[in-house]
Amino acid sequence: MSARRGYIAGIAGPVVVAKGLSGVKMGEVVYVGEDQLVGEVVRISSNYFTVQVYEDTSGLRPKEPIIATGKLLVAELGPGLMSVTFDGIERPLEEVRKQIGDFVSRGVKVNALPRNVKWHFKPLVKKSVKVEGGDVIGEVQETPLVIHKIMVPPGVDGSITWIEEGDYTVEEPVATVERDGEVFEIKMMQEWPVRTPRLFKKRLPSEVPLIVGLRVIDTFFPVAKGGAAAVPGGFGTGKTVLLHKVAMYSDSRIVIYIGCGERGNEIAEMLEEFPQLKDPKTGHPIMERSIIIANTSNMPVSAREASIYMGVTMAEYYRDMGYDVTLIADSTSRWAEALREIAGRLGEMPVERGFPAYLPDRIAEFYERAGRVVALGSPERVGSVTILGAVSPPGGDFNEPVTIHTLRFVGAMWALDPELAYRRHYPAINWLKSFSQYAEIVERWWAKNVSKDFQQYRRKALRLLTVASEIESIASIVGESALPDNQRLILLTSEILKEGFLRQTALSGEDVFCQPRKQFLLLKMIMDFFDKTYVLIRKRVSIEEISRMPEVFEMMRVKEDERGIKAVEELYARVMKKLDELAEKYGLTLGGGDMRG
Ligand SMILES: Nc1ncnc2c1ncn2[C@@H]1O[C@H](COP(=O)(O)OP(=O)(O)O)[C@@H](O)[C@H]1O
Ligand SMILES: [Mg+2]
Repeated sequence: MSARRGYIAGIAGPVVVAKGLSGVKMGEVVYVGEDQLVGEVVRISSNYFTVQVYEDTSGLRPKEPIIATGKLLVAELGPGLMSVTFDGIERPLEEVRKQIGDFVSRGVKVNALPRNVKWHFKPLVKKSVKVEGGDVIGEVQETPLVIHKIMVPPGVDGSITWIEEGDYTVEEPVATVERDGEVFEIKMMQEWPVRTPRLFKKRLPSEVPLIVGLRVIDTFFPVAKGGAAAVPGGFGTGKTVLLHKVAMYSDSRIVIYIGCGERGNEIAEMLEEFPQLKDPKTGHPIMERSIIIANTSNMPVSAREASIYMGVTMAEYYRDMGYDVTLIADSTSRWAEALREIAGRLGEMPVERGFPAYLPDRIAEFYERAGRVVALGSPERVGSVTILGAVSPPGGDFNEPVTIHTLRFVGAMWALDPELAYRRHYPAINWLKSFSQYAEIVERWWAKNVSKDFQQYRRKALRLLTVASEIESIASIVGESALPDNQRLILLTSEILKEGFLRQTALSGEDVFCQPRKQFLLLKMIMDFFDKTYVLIRKRVSIEEISRMPEVFEMMRVKEDERGIKAVEELYARVMKKLDELAEKYGLTLGGGDMRG
């Protein structure tokens, strides 16, 4: 016999020790205390077990009851998720506020999905059709930007015995499936345990880039759809601004934004700002294709963990509909700190800087839920979850456990640099410290969609930037004018690259989003300029004569020209012509300089 009701034997911050219950499972959800706070079993011992509570535990007393639910922590999935802001345990914040005012009080039970809203369900299969888990049987226009596919839940199969177009709540059946005389009602709402990755048919290579419109990312350190990238950076280096831009402009269909444990006012700012953002392609609010999960400052640390798993489960659910989903977690460091605090309360042995030994496993499991997959069921759908995680190392020092372990499990890192941020070079992504393992894989996409020469220009530019930084350190000792002209040309070109290519405003205007073709043309212009002038310099044309050209300045500014690609093409032609004239003046000939390619 298992007892489903026990009592509190001890309380330590967000952790509660319970007795008098038996037969509970690891990860089982329990209701703690008179207020029925939501908690999850995190350790089972011989005569007691331990619960982490996702709500404020102050005021709880020993002997208050604990009730086991028999259920794991699940996400409710179905129409009504999109454009909503949830807390870490999937309570819609606005509903909570309506019920209890402005304080998130404890033990409030609010359904994730509204039960009274009727959605218009359109069947996509007919009666008598055989279906199985994952099959799409119909759809609902969830928001103007998202068509929600209604899928047969995993584990269900049989023949459709009834299905009808109409308006239904998420709890009403929209179809019935029969197998061996047993009837199963399909509803639009499903549940899924958040700590278990959702199943899929097949993993696919991540070979399509997520285009974010920022040159330093797309051109130099791309992330693939289905890949994972980390954004480490100290306080104020621009993690949140960068991730907002990606949420706004990237070519993903769905964005799930987890504001995890950052200071209260930052989260408040996000909650204010995010819903105002407009989708640049459709003009609709981006909330129509987004979900926010927010840990407000008055939520306890353990809810950070729940929020991470909730978010990634929702991401997988929309992936299964065949969408490219971007999951943003800002900041994963706050989640890691929550793990540390809970581990401390549980008396676990700390290993590195107080973090528990399982920190790397948890980080790995999280990022492994990124991927591009073929979903279960028919018709065939390919979807992806791309995970972007901010990391906030204390003091901006990357040599700490969360940063180090995160970098083992992601394919790209955008390393934010306080030096660049200080000089207001945004995005402050350091081009010498960042990396992307996707660059070679997405090369084919660039070759096919933009230019077969793309990769060659990319490599050349990265090499030039590296060499330039070495020359810079010499120049800082001997002075730039003491350097030979060819080295000064490398410095000049790297300045043009930094100003005219890497630096990009996040505010407004032509340059907030740079399409891939324009990225390539800008890069080509600057690198072809370098090739031609390099020949001239070797033939004793002076660096002063080159740097005096008005086009040098124009190359740093043309990114902002409202005429877009046209302006770049025109400037390119002018630069090449100028250099040819210069060559002619000195009786030289230069090759190349063709804008196509
Ligand atoms: N791309 C950008 N363009 C202009 N200003 C920026 C940019 N990124 C960051 N900033 C400035 O830096 C401040 C801090 O950025 P934020 O993203 O909040 O830092 P973090 O999240 O790393 O602490 C912003 O409020 C803004 O003033
Ligand atoms: Mg931030």
